Amino acid sequence: MKKTLIAGNWKLNGSLAANEALVLALRSGLPPTVACQVALCVPSVYLAQVQGLLAGSGLDLGAQDMSAHEGGAYTGEVSAAMLRDFGVRYCLVGHSERRQYHGESDALVALKAQRALACGITPIVCVGETLAEREAGATETVVKRQLAAVIHVNGHCISEIVVAYEPVWAIGTGKTASADQAQEVHALLRAQLRAATSQADRVAILYGGSMNAANAAELLAQPDVDGGLVGGASLKVPDFLSIIAAAG
Ligand code: PGA
Repeated sequence: MKKTLIAGNWKLNGSLAANEALVLALRSGLPPTVACQVALCVPSVYLAQVQGLLAGSGLDLGAQDMSAHEGGAYTGEVSAAMLRDFGVRYCLVGHSERRQYHGESDALVALKAQRALACGITPIVCVGETLAEREAGATETVVKRQLAAVIHVNGHCISEIVVAYEPVWAIGTGKTASADQAQEVHALLRAQLRAATSQADRVAILYGGSMNAANAAELLAQPDVDGGLVGGASLKVPDFLSIIAAAG
């Protein structure tokens, strides 16, 4: 059985001092055995620092984005192989903030997932509808289109990815999808994965969007919710510890 995965997404937050304080507090607050997997997706410039802070903790290091290219004339980009150099195990791809502010298309996200897999990094492929799309009844069409692009490019490797369902209207807004709303979409995504691979049950499907200490247990109790992608609450040690405890 796959372990529940709780991934913190620090987004554009942190400093050398704040990161050290946060990771040390997290480490000292964790029980000796943690039942779930925990990863921290940190800004790229802090990968080396956080890699050091996490050493021996059993917690995994993650990145928030990566290039679809292997290398070359792509100023400002960071490749999957570079992430690997710093012990990165997971990389978010296609986060809605990348899609929205950087114009990332479904096709580009699929290529990033492919590049990550080629370098031994597990892509956490983010999908999710906007409020307008939900209100127009297009949730299923949108999330299936986003995942289909990744399935199309990654074929037989698809069971190696992690999926994160993050309704855009729930991200950073304090509005969480209800457990039923989350489960409904997760079940659709699971069915889509089943049509592509016999190993669909191995794929962790995380929920993200205002997951917090109060709502984590109910969300994580849903049959197709295999973990959480946690933004704001991952920066608050007591909240993040409560979410990790809820996942155990
Ligand atoms: P949030 O962010 O938990 O702050 O809503 C989640 C995410 O964007 O990954």
